[in-house]
Amino acid sequence: MNLIETLRKDFEVIFSKCDTRIFFAPGRVNLIGEHTDYNGGHVFPAALDFGTYGVFKEREDNKVRLYSKNFSNLGIMEFTLEDLTYNKHHDWGNYPKGVIKIFKDKGYNINKGMDILFYGNIPNGAGLSSSASIELVAAVALNKLFNLNIDMISMVKMCQMAENDFIGVKCGIMDQFAIGMGKKNRAILLDCNSLKYKYCNLDLKDISIIISNTNKRRGLNESKYNNRRDECERALLELKNNLNINSLGELTEEEFEENKHLITNSIDRKRAKHAVYENRRTLKASKVLEEGNIKEFGKLMKESHISLRNDYEVTGKELDTLVELELNQDGVIGSRMTGAGFGGCTISLVKNDGIDKFIENVGMKYFEKIGYHANFYIGKIGDGAREL
Ligand code: GLA
Repeated sequence: MNLIETLRKDFEVIFSKCDTRIFFAPGRVNLIGEHTDYNGGHVFPAALDFGTYGVFKEREDNKVRLYSKNFSNLGIMEFTLEDLTYNKHHDWGNYPKGVIKIFKDKGYNINKGMDILFYGNIPNGAGLSSSASIELVAAVALNKLFNLNIDMISMVKMCQMAENDFIGVKCGIMDQFAIGMGKKNRAILLDCNSLKYKYCNLDLKDISIIISNTNKRRGLNESKYNNRRDECERALLELKNNLNINSLGELTEEEFEENKHLITNSIDRKRAKHAVYENRRTLKASKVLEEGNIKEFGKLMKESHISLRNDYEVTGKELDTLVELELNQDGVIGSRMTGAGFGGCTISLVKNDGIDKFIENVGMKYFEKIGYHANFYIGKIGDGAREL
């Protein structure tokens, strides 16, 4: 039985025997451009070929019942379309619930309940956007089941809104955008200010993307993510005393250096420095990749990690150890943390003939230094959220 047939069968066991529809949304990995999205800068992410599956069936009443194969211990969660409030006991269920709420608040006619079975193969809490992936599965499914005809970018924005307003994480738009708009073998250069974007070829021939999971769990909610946002907003406010700008993403490195004295708090100044330099690095990185200069791309990845470690301070022992070990292996072009940080994954570009040794060496040394194992995945770049 393939995965789809298995999921249909599971749905019958958990809910009922009926005709179901299946939707999928990938996870994402970011090549470069970290913590730039909410600073009006650029990001360079891609959708992965693994993600979240949702098996859907509308009901005749207004009940929504959710079940995840990944959290079978939580059983079936149930609520009605009239009671779409955040409930901490509903755990992951708050993601689809939040999306339904935002769709309804926007006036879309969701007039029937649903039974939904989820299954995801994104390692959860690893910084590969399992939460945005659930949100997008819910969004594309609502769009089709209720014939809403919403375009993908509007759904991306509504999913970000669910995360910001319903879940309470003030994330930028990168994850939802990459997951909604991803394309096979393409990275997306996205200007988060204007939402202008461009696909770049990611067919790296003899080089692969390796994603390594520190296995240090990270919850965005508990983390300092919202804090970083506040620090950057404070810095921007002070810069505005002298500069006519709306976001840190509008500054060049030189403009920042000339005006950084306006930022009174030294921590805020470091955060803003990262946001400005990382944005410029992202633009350079997408350019050198297009020119086929992968070596320079790798160099920019290294610089990105150093900036995230020293100025943005979102790496930590596990990510730093992993990146350091990775950069010491033969055949490695570049390596950095990916996602929000505070744990989660690194992304490395590795020559194909060095992959086995890379995994063996890094795996062994990471275990020696940290005391638990890292996991490794070959990052295949796939298409965005869709019905299967
Ligand atoms: C998380 C957020 C994104 C982005 C990254 C950091 O993944 O959801 O919006 O800010 O962190 O680049």
